[in-house]
Formats: sequence, structure tokens, C-alpha cells
Amino acid sequence: MRIDSNSIIGIVGAGIMGRGIAQVAAKAGHKVILYDNWDGAVDNAMNINEKELSKLVEKGKMTQETKDKTISLMTPTMQIEDLAPCDLIIEAIIENKEIKQEIFKQLEDICGDVCIASNTSSISISALANGLKRPDRMVGMHFFNPAPIMKLVEVISGLQSDKQLVEDVYNLANSWGKKAVFVKSSPGFIVNRIARPFYAEALRLYEEGVSTFATIDEVARTSGRFKMGPFELMDLIGNDTNYSVTESTFNSYYQDSRFNPSLTQQEFSQAGLLGRKSGIGFYKYEDGKQLCREKYNEVEPSNNKISDITVFGSLGVANELIPLFKKAGINVIEDEGDGYIEFNDIKLFLTNGKMASQISKELNEKNIAQFDINIDYDLTDSITIATSLLAQKHVEKNIAALFTQIGKRTLIIKDSPAMVISRTISMLVNEASSTVTNGVCDEASVDIAMENGVNYPIGPFKWADKLGIDFILETLNNLESFYKDTRYRVDRGIIEKSIIGGKYYE
Ligand SMILES: NC(=O)c1ccc[n+]([C@@H]2O[C@H](COP(=O)([O-])OP(=O)(O)OC[C@H]3O[C@@H](n4cnc5c(N)ncnc54)[C@H](O)[C@@H]3O)[C@@H](O)[C@H]2O)c1
Repeated sequence: MRIDSNSIIGIVGAGIMGRGIAQVAAKAGHKVILYDNWDGAVDNAMNINEKELSKLVEKGKMTQETKDKTISLMTPTMQIEDLAPCDLIIEAIIENKEIKQEIFKQLEDICGDVCIASNTSSISISALANGLKRPDRMVGMHFFNPAPIMKLVEVISGLQSDKQLVEDVYNLANSWGKKAVFVKSSPGFIVNRIARPFYAEALRLYEEGVSTFATIDEVARTSGRFKMGPFELMDLIGNDTNYSVTESTFNSYYQDSRFNPSLTQQEFSQAGLLGRKSGIGFYKYEDGKQLCREKYNEVEPSNNKISDITVFGSLGVANELIPLFKKAGINVIEDEGDGYIEFNDIKLFLTNGKMASQISKELNEKNIAQFDINIDYDLTDSITIATSLLAQKHVEKNIAALFTQIGKRTLIIKDSPAMVISRTISMLVNEASSTVTNGVCDEASVDIAMENGVNYPIGPFKWADKLGIDFILETLNNLESFYKDTRYRVDRGIIEKSIIGGKYYE
């Protein structure tokens, strides 16, 4: 059976996801039958959909006529037999393999040769299809919350999924205005797997006393241009939910240290400090507003005016700073060398996965500092630095004075390998590469997924191209040798890319 724009869509489960998916399908003109076995669920779903669509009409984003038509296309029911005419049923019930499999069997009996798409976030599609009369008719269709707004749909193939069905579902999702990507069934699919380091590295930095929740979030927002920092995002998702996704991914990958859950998050979760929904998590919330507990660790600049600097060698991605220095009237001398900025008695390196203190020791010099990578040094309003454990106090103040001259604030963290953004991005690229190496999806799908499923400003492979694959390789190798932890082992895809050279996007 082919699935297309004329297909009747059944939705099983009228909760947060099911009702949103029903709205999306009806908006695209499908007849939708929305089923739930809990008294009140379907009425509640229809009420919320009615309210959301009315808002669109009020804002002029939808005509009253389209709204009425969309509502009229959705039929709520508590009788599973009413799903009989459906061609494709999207299941969005409780995240429990046995309960889902039970309902799939009922659906096969009631609807004949129906196709079934599960919206599961974590269960293997191959496993869900086990026991069905037609396991080839089962695929994954993973929407993101809120379904009417988030663009991404991961279209997941199980071992037995029919290729034509997978393609039809992919085309269907795109025809609904979504961005669909093909995914091979595997734990975490694309987004929930690759996003793990975004939370995990931030939690580790906090656990090692490198910085505070507020400063790490600020660095992520400004230097990484992430919409939300990791801690405020964990508070939004819920520490319990985020912890359980990490724990289940960790167990699914046989306790690979790449996915180690965090004791801090476990503690917050067990204490009921879940985030926004409980009023307190990493931050406190009042009337839905986040109250920041601490100030960012920002450096007060010295009054020194820096008029001359020397740039030795290439600063890599941070070469973008050179025209900014020149524009600010600073005399920039460019010379050969290992890639650092020198002024007064200070040497300032772009982070490379070693601590500034390690470089200090190697060079036998005290006043060594590092700065973090930035998605755009021109647009950002802050640059993050770390100074060697041996550095004198004036070092951070004079660096802040230099950055003030180009209109940037200076945030500071304790000296740590790869700092915040470089460490996070390198690990995101590593996981992205490993996902591709494992044949879960292709490179372009990774970036589409991360940009549209979790709103990253650019996907990991675009970051890799910006930084250069050798920068990522060096950073990961240095992290691995610092921590002696296989968590930071480099995926073979990165090593291969470095050998053949070139970029992910030509
Ligand atoms: N909430 C999210 O952010 C999110 C995102 C992507 C995917 N998912 C996945 O979507 C699915 C649904 O999640 P949700 O957040 O919408 O849950 P939810 O609790 O809001 O809704 C689930 C609905 O399913 C109904 N239900 C449960 N068992 C049923 C059964 N046997 N027959 C009929 N109806 C039944 C419940 O009454 C409830 O209304 C889960 O598999 C979840 O992992 C959730």
C-alpha cells in the first residue's frame, strides 16, 4: 500500500505529541482519526488544538476557513475500531515496548494491511516490529515537541521496514512542511544521541569546578550562539527526563563512557529539583521567569591601553579577530610562529585541548592564557579566557583590556582543557561522526537534524568545516590524553577525514 496525500491518518494516543501530530496532518489536508483510551484525553486534545489554531487566526497566520476545515478533518474517538479505515497510523502512547506492541497487534486485526509509524523516542523500531504479522509495515516517525512547531521528523527504518514505505513516510513528512531525515534504527536515533555531549560536558565542567551554571550557559549562548545554555535547557526539559534519556542511551550502548550519566543531574533529579516544572532546578523560577543565582564570571579590565600586539602564526578560526584589532586602531604585527597573540608579557593561545597551564609548563613561562572558539568573533559580545595556574593576576585584566578595545566582554573560567565551546563542539562532532560511521544516517542529515530538532545555530559538520577537522582531531586527542578516558577517543570518521583532507561541505 502507498502512503500519500490522500491517505487517512490515524493517531493513537492524544497526549502532548499525538494531538500535535493530529493538528499537523489535518492542516496538511488529511482526514485524521484521533484515538485515546483515557476518558477526557481526546476532548482535551481537541480543545487545545482549537485554541492553538484560533491563535494562528488571531495573528493572521491562518484564515478562519482553513482553521474550520482543519478542525473538521479531525475526528476524536475512544473506540479503537474507528481506526479501521486508516492507511497510516501514527502511534504516540506511553513509552513502553510491550504496551506499544500489544496495540500494534490490535491495529493489525482491526485495520488489515495498515502501515504503522511509531513516535517512540527511544525504543528500537526493529524490536517494535517483532511479532507483527507484517513487520515490513512498521517504521519510526519521530516528531519533536511541540510537534506543530518543530520542523524535524526522524523517519526510522527497522531491520524489516519496507523501503518504499520508508520513502513514502519521508515524502509525507516533507509534504507536511517538516524536514524529514532518514535514520537507521539505533539507540537515540540522531538527535538524542548526538545531543548528549551538549549536556554532559557542561555537567562535567561544573563537577570539576571549572565554572558555574550561569557562566557556562552565558558562554554557550554568546560564543556558541545556542538559543539556550545547557543548564537552562536541562531545566526546561526536566532533569528527570534528561537524566533518564542519558541513562537509557548509556545502557543501550553497553555503558560506553561516551554516554556516562552525571551524578550531579542524578542528585538534582532525585531531590525533585527538576527545573521549570518544579520551580527549581539549576536555577530558580518565579512566575515562569528564571532567576539567576550567580553573576557571570566576567573580568574587570585594567585601564591599560593595548596599542601593539604581535600575532605569531595562524590563530585558525580566531584569525577573524585580526581585522577587528586593526579596526580598533591596534597595531598588529604578523610574524611566523605557533599560533598565539603576544602583548606586554602575555602569550594568548586559542584553546587546543590542553590546559593553558600545560602550555605554561612546556614553554617554562608563567603568563600564558587561552581563549575559547567562537561561532563568530565579529558578532559575539564576549570572549572566554582561562589563564595558566602560574599566571600573574594582571594577565586576565590586561586581556580583558585588549578585548574591551574591540567591544567584547571577557568571561573567565578556571583553566581547563578545551574550555567550554571547543570541548562541547569537538564532542558533538565526534558523536556526529560516529553516528555516520555506524551508518545511522548521512552527514547532511546530521546537520538538518540538529538544526531543526534542537535548534542548534549550525550543525556539527558545519562547525567542523569552520574549525577545520585537524583542530577537532587535535582537541579530542589532547582531551583523551588529559583525562585518560576513552570517552574522548576519536571516531574513525574524523581520522579518515583528516587523512583525506577537505571539508564535509565543498
Ligand atoms: N513529550 C515529548 O517531548 C516527546 C517527544 C518525542 C517523542 N515522544 C514520544 O511520544 C510518545 C507519547 O509521548 P507524550 O509525551 O505525547 O505522552 P503523553 O503522556 O502526553 O500522552 C500519551 C497518551 O497516550 C494515551 N495512552 C496510553 N496508553 C494507551 C493505550 N494503550 N491506548 C490508547 N491510548 C493510550 C494516554 O492516555 C495519553 O493521552 C512516547 O512514545 C514518547 O516517548 C515524546
